[in-house]
Amino acid sequence: MAVERTLSIIKPDATRRNLTGKINARFEDGGLRIVAQKRIRLSREQAERFYAVHAERAFFKDLVEFMISGPVVVQVLEGENAIARNREIMGATNPANAAAGTIRKDFAESIEANSVHGSDAPETAAEEIRFFFSGLELVG
Ligand code: PPS
Repeated sequence: MAVERTLSIIKPDATRRNLTGKINARFEDGGLRIVAQKRIRLSREQAERFYAVHAERAFFKDLVEFMISGPVVVQVLEGENAIARNREIMGATNPANAAAGTIRKDFAESIEANSVHGSDAPETAAEEIRFFFSGLELVG
């Protein structure tokens, strides 16, 4: 199995409810290591750029408004098959469809306020990590 890195974002609904520690425990208990982390506020331009792939979707404007509505914690998670593992730990995008014991089942409020983002493939993980972090900030 390959050791991978993936980009994770703890979203504004979760930082607002002070859930950063609880969510990080899910990642660590699930076998992932947090090798970089920072709490930031996204500008509108940054959020639009990060989610550019969804620019034509009906929910794009709401998604951007939500992501700039409060602080987020951006982080790099490392571990065996980290991309797929993180997606298992997060659960389905819509909390109504998320499996028991996942972050989104237990914490998400809606398909928009769904507490966490995780990269979906190796190429996007590399791109999303570069979006937020320089190599010097990644401490394995
Ligand atoms: S897709 O089609 O699989 O790429 O889209 P999906 O993974 O379902 O969703 C992509 C991101 O958009 C958010 N989303 C929404 N935001 C607001 N309103 C609605 N209706 C909505 N539907 C999806 C969803 O939370 C995903 O955010 P990220 O940060 O990528 O997980």
